[in-house]
Order: sequence, then C-alpha cells, then structure tokens
Amino acid sequence: MRKKIIAGNWKMNKTVGEAVELAKAIKLELGDCKEVDVVVCPPFTATKAVGDVISETLINLGAQNMSSEDDGAYTGEISHTMLKELFVRYVILGHSERREYYKETDFWVNKKVKKALEKNLRPIVCVGEKLEDREAGNTEAVVEAQVRGSLADIPAAAYTDLVIAYEPVWAIGTGKTATAEQAQEVHAFIRGIVADMVGAEAADAVRIQYGGSMKPGNAPELLAQPDIDGGLIGGAALDAASFAGIVKAGL
Ligand code: 13P
Repeated sequence: MRKKIIAGNWKMNKTVGEAVELAKAIKLELGDCKEVDVVVCPPFTATKAVGDVISETLINLGAQNMSSEDDGAYTGEISHTMLKELFVRYVILGHSERREYYKETDFWVNKKVKKALEKNLRPIVCVGEKLEDREAGNTEAVVEAQVRGSLADIPAAAYTDLVIAYEPVWAIGTGKTATAEQAQEVHAFIRGIVADMVGAEAADAVRIQYGGSMKPGNAPELLAQPDIDGGLIGGAALDAASFAGIVKAGL
C-alpha cells in the first residue's frame, strides 16, 4: 500500500511573518498526522522560519526548486547543502511554471533530480500537458516525453524516494480540475511508463500526486482513484483549513 502524500506549494506567496502564521495554523490541524505524509513548501525566504515552527511535528519541510550544481558562481540559485542545512526533505522540481517562465527543460530537471537523490533529498518531479496538447490529442505523448526525459537514468531503487506530480497545466490555478477519470487515466499511464523504464516493482512503489485546482470538495473523489497517491496543492494550500480538509480526504 502506498502512503498518500499531500504537499502544499506556496509558490511566490507569504512574507516570513505570514508564512509563520500559516505554518502555525497548519501545525495545529496536522502536526500529528501519521496516516498521510504532509509536506509544506514555502518560498525560500521563509524556509527557516517555517522549519522552526514545524520542527517537532510530523509535517515535512519542502522547497520549490533547487540548483543542479553543488556551489559556486550561480547567481540567484539555492543548493542542496543550503536546503539540507534547514532540514528540507522534499524538493519540487520541474514545476510547469518553471518550465514555462524560466525555460527549464527535461535535461535540467533530470540533472536536478539526480543531484537531489544523490544528496538524500526527495524530489517531487512535475509533469503535465498544456491545454493545446490535450486538445490536439497529444496528452500521452507530451507526458511520456517529460517522464522519460526528467527521469532518465534514475535507478529503480530510487523510486521509493521519488514522487511524481501529474499537473495538467490547464487545471493549475484555473478552478478547472481534471475529472477523477481523466486524472486516473494519466496516472495509470505514467505508472505504465515507469514500469517500462525500470520495472513493475518500482512502478508499484512510486507515488504519483495529482495537482491542479485540488480542493477539499474534489479531493475525496480524486484521492479514491487507484493510481492517485496524493496531491500537490497550490491555492488551497494557502489556507490551513482547506489544506487540512484535503489531507483529511486522503485518510
Ligand atoms: P492550484 O492548486 O492553485 O491549481 O496549483 C496547483 C499547483 O501548481 C501546485 O504545484
């Protein structure tokens, strides 16, 4: 049985003070949640402060990005060492917003995934088609290329630490969720690609989150699907009650 994992991606929201308030409220609701892996991914500026709030809870700290390099002249980047120093355990890589606005390609996502695994950070690797891809009937081709490219040369054993997030771009922040059937179909497809790449055991072990306008109202149906192992939550993660409502739907 795969343990469900619900992660909040706070994106570029919350000052340090606001982040601490949100973390405290989430701690009250979910601090002792054992049944689901709960992760919060604040912006870098609030990582330390949020980490301090959740330090003695079961809530995990995550980051929204990471450099593929160890250290040196990479202006504006954040390294694995810097994240681990703050007790970060998970790192979102290849989010569609980074692919779209910062031109991150599968090649770079793959380098980051390898670096994160080598340094014992757990990558949450995002894939997902745009509306034009879906309308042209290219969903599977686009998602397959992203999975194969972003996860190239990752050994089977790593898939227990790795999380894949299927986030259809047209569902992110739009209020248009994929139906549970649409999401399940792509999740099963992704699991099949992983099986083809590294074998059935790793495919059975890897957790695949859904992301895109997930809310307490639609979470129960999405999380009930056999291949949906959790959620990567944007907007609804900025409110402790909504976030907790989604986590509770995964129990
Ligand atoms: P929304 O939940 O706001 O649609 O965002 C999803 C997302 O991009 C999480 O990474």
